Amino acid sequence: MPIEVRRLSGAMGAEIFGVDLSQKLSDERWKEIRAAYNEHLAIFFPDQHLLPPHIIAFVERFGTPSIHPYLKPVNKDYPFVHELRKEPSHTINYGGAWHTDFTFVEKPNSANALYARITPEYGGDTMFANLYLAYDALSEGMKKLFDGVRLLSATGAFLDLVKVSPVVRDDTYEHLKNVPPAAHPVFRTIPETGRKCLYIDPGAALSFENMTVEESRPIINYLIALVQRPEFQFRYRWRPDVFGIWDNRCLIHYAVNDYPGQLRVMHRMSVVDTERPR
Ligand code: SIN
Repeated sequence: MPIEVRRLSGAMGAEIFGVDLSQKLSDERWKEIRAAYNEHLAIFFPDQHLLPPHIIAFVERFGTPSIHPYLKPVNKDYPFVHELRKEPSHTINYGGAWHTDFTFVEKPNSANALYARITPEYGGDTMFANLYLAYDALSEGMKKLFDGVRLLSATGAFLDLVKVSPVVRDDTYEHLKNVPPAAHPVFRTIPETGRKCLYIDPGAALSFENMTVEESRPIINYLIALVQRPEFQFRYRWRPDVFGIWDNRCLIHYAVNDYPGQLRVMHRMSVVDTERPR
């Protein structure tokens, strides 16, 4: 039986049924899953029962696992799996702003995975915005003007977050504060689909290469507003035991902090780009 893929919105997102991710996948099954990922960009597998080694075995199929430089691992035997735990007493959450991961380094994270362990009774959704659709919406003039231009991304908003985040390691701020900005193409092509996307990280975008911040900012603000158009967005409501993975290269995401006084625990793993974005 092939997997069942249920599309969740016009912009992206699908739930997948008929596969147990704790078991070894056949090549055929993997091909179906990878095709669904390329098409829907954020895929979710309800009713999974996964331990950290299962998460690692599956996520490794998407690329090189990354040890998160700032989050604490679930335990020392599984350094690739990190816990995102928001206690009822915590007021801020991790990832509570539009971003894609680590654009301030040369090889950003290419995919993120979350496994929902404990979800609040309401709230705690993750929102996504589709950067392919944002690129497609640009005029031919803008596409031509910014073809080949690179955008500098800096630690900016992430640095502000880690100052107050209870889930990151204590040395994070010191470690991050001297990281220089990284330059990536404004329009990035995703090899598996051959499609271009508008690769902008709202929390990190600083300026276009060889332009000042003052010159760049109005256009960056325009692009950030564009990527957030409702028709490019999708919002996933987590339930316990759902495993999800999304393509960080062509999506931005936002962890919604709307569940004060409730507990949310997710296991998280990322894979990293092995080449610089092109
Ligand atoms: C993140 O990876 O930024 C967090 C996403 C979430 O917890 O919903």
